[in-house]
Amino acid sequence: MYYPEELVEEVRMKNDIVEVISGYVKLQKKGSSYFGLCPFHNEKSPSFSVSRDKQMYYCFGCGAGGNVFTFLMEYENYSFLEAFKYLADRAGVELPKEEYSKEARQRADMKAVLLEINKEAARYFYVQLKSTGGTHALTYLKERRLSGETIKAFGLGYSNKYSNDLYQYLKSKGYTDEYILKAGLISVDEKKGVYDKFWNRVMFPIMDVNNRVIGFGGRVMGDAKPKYLNSPETMIFDKSRNLYGLNRARTSRKAYFLLCEGYMDVISLHQAGFTNAVASLGTSLTQGHASLIKRYVQEVYLTYDSDEAGTKAALRAVPILKEAGITARIIRMEPYKDPDEFIKNEGAEAFEERISKARNGFMFTLEVLERNYDMTSPEGKTEFMREAARRLGEFEEEIERNNYIEAVASAYHTGREELKRLVGKMAVQAGLAKTVTRPKSTPGREKEKEDGILKSQKILLTWLASDENIFRQICGIITPEDFKEGIYREVASLLYEQYEKQELNPAAIISHFTDEEEHREVAGLFHTRIKELSGIKEQEKALKETIIRVKRHSIDEMTRKLEPTDIEGLQRLMKAKRRLQSPGELHISIN
Ligand code: UTP
Ligand code: MN
Repeated sequence: MYYPEELVEEVRMKNDIVEVISGYVKLQKKGSSYFGLCPFHNEKSPSFSVSRDKQMYYCFGCGAGGNVFTFLMEYENYSFLEAFKYLADRAGVELPKEEYSKEARQRADMKAVLLEINKEAARYFYVQLKSTGGTHALTYLKERRLSGETIKAFGLGYSNKYSNDLYQYLKSKGYTDEYILKAGLISVDEKKGVYDKFWNRVMFPIMDVNNRVIGFGGRVMGDAKPKYLNSPETMIFDKSRNLYGLNRARTSRKAYFLLCEGYMDVISLHQAGFTNAVASLGTSLTQGHASLIKRYVQEVYLTYDSDEAGTKAALRAVPILKEAGITARIIRMEPYKDPDEFIKNEGAEAFEERISKARNGFMFTLEVLERNYDMTSPEGKTEFMREAARRLGEFEEEIERNNYIEAVASAYHTGREELKRLVGKMAVQAGLAKTVTRPKSTPGREKEKEDGILKSQKILLTWLASDENIFRQICGIITPEDFKEGIYREVASLLYEQYEKQELNPAAIISHFTDEEEHREVAGLFHTRIKELSGIKEQEKALKETIIRVKRHSIDEMTRKLEPTDIEGLQRLMKAKRRLQSPGELHISIN
C-alpha cells in the first residue's frame, strides 16, 4: 500500500521528534539541540542529538540518524509502513482504507514482498516443527540441549519430507513462482519441475538487525552432506553484510561481541546468557562485517573453533577487525571443538573464565607464528624476532607500537631497546623496498581522494541545509549535478527544490527513502561534523575552500566524460574552472 507524499508529511509533522524520542531516551536541552545517551550503541557520555528545528536526530558516536520514522524503524524494528501507521495513530490522523488491488501489489516494492515470503516460510517451518510430522526434528533440537524458549526465540523450524510442500503453501498464499524463486526458497528443474530448496532439515531463520527474516540455514539431522544448506544470496540476503544473532546481540548492552563460527554456537551462547554472541553466515569475515560490528562495539572476542581451520580463520579476522578500528581478542576452546560443545560440557561459568583469560589478537598471532620456527636454536629465534619486528612496524601509532614492543620483549625475553631498534631497521627496509616499487597512484590513495571529495560534498550539504543565506550565495555556483550520482545528488536536488518553493525541510527529504540504511546515510549528509571554527572569517574561508574543492572536482569529472570532439563543451568547462581560480570572483559571507 502506498500513501501519498502529503499524507506522509502530515503524519511526520504532527509527531514532534523531541516528544516522540523523549518517550524512549532521556533528553537534555543544550543550545538549540537536545542530547542524550544513544540507544543504538553503548556510551557513557551523550553524543546522541535531537534537533527540534530540523526534526532529525543524529548520533555523533555511531552515525545513527534520521527523522521520526527512522527512529521508530531503528528502535522498534518497524518497517517504514509500520512506523508510519503507528505515528498516524499517535497523532490521530485517519488513513484511507487499504485496498489490495492487483496493481497495488505489483507496484509494491519487490524487496518488501521477498521479506514477506521469507517471513511466511519461517512461520511455516515453525509450525512444521511443532506438528506431529516434526517430532524427530524437535527431538534432535532437544537432544542438542535447546530449551523450548530458545527454539521459540530463534524461531527454529523444520522443513518436512515432502518435496514441494512449502512451495504449495506459498502459492496458496498468493505468491507467484517468480517471487518465490527470487526469495531463494525453490529450485526449478526441467525434469523434476519445481521443488523446495530445503528438505528434511532443521531450519535456522537468518534475521537482519530489524528482525526481518532474510534467509535460512538448514541442517541435516544425520551425517549427510552438506551439513548446512544456506539460502542463496538474494535481493534481501547479502551474506557479507549480515551477522547471525546481531538482531539480538545489538541490544545486549555489552561493550564487546563474541564472534563465533556457527549458528549453533550463537544459540548455545545466548541460551547460556551470553547474549552478545554473533556469527558470520557460513563465510569468512569481511570488511563489511567489520564495519557493521563497529556500529555497535569497539571490541570483539573471537571464539572460533579450536581446529586448524578455526585458528586460521581467527588469524585472518584479526587484521580485518583492526583495520576497522576494532580490538580483537582470542578465546580458546580447547579441549573442545567449539563454544557450543564447551558450554555443554563446562557450563557458563567456565566460559566466563575463558573470556577473562582471552588473549590479545596480536600476541596470539605471534604464538601461532612461532610454530613455524625452531625457537630452541639461535638462528630460528632470530628469524622469528625479525618477522615479529616487521609486524610490529605496522602499528602506525607510536604509543601503541611501543606498548606492543614492550609486551613482545617481555614475552620472548628480549631487550626492549634492541627490539625497538630492530623494528626501526625492518621498517626502513620495508620502506626502501616500497619506494622503488610503489606505483604512481595506489588504489588506496585513489580511495582516500574519493573519500575526501565525498566528505567535502557532505559538509556542503550540511551547510546548505542549515542556512538559507548561504544557500542563496552558493546556488549560483554549485548545482545538484555537482554532487556524486546517487543519494548525494538526489538529496541535493530535493534540497534545491525545497528552497525554490521556500519550504526548507530536510526531515521530509529522508521520507523519500524507505530503507533504513538510506535513512541513515541521508541523515549523515545533514549532520557532518564541521570543525568548530572560532571566527567568522575562518568559517568563510573554510566554506569557500569547500565550494572550490567540490566544484573543481565536478568540472574535472565532466571534462573527463566529455566527447573528445566537443570543443565548445571543453571551453565552457575551462572557463568555469578559470573563474573558480580567480580570487576576486567568489564572495561568501556568513551572516
Ligand atoms: P561447523 O561445521 O563448525 O558447524 O560450521 P557447527 O556450527 O559446529 O554446527 P553443528 O554444531 O555441527 O550443528 C560452522 C558454520 O559454517 C557454516 C554454517 O554457518 C555453520 O554454522 N557451514 C558449515 C555451512 O554453511 N555449510 C556447511 O556444510 C557447514
Ligand atoms: Mn558445533
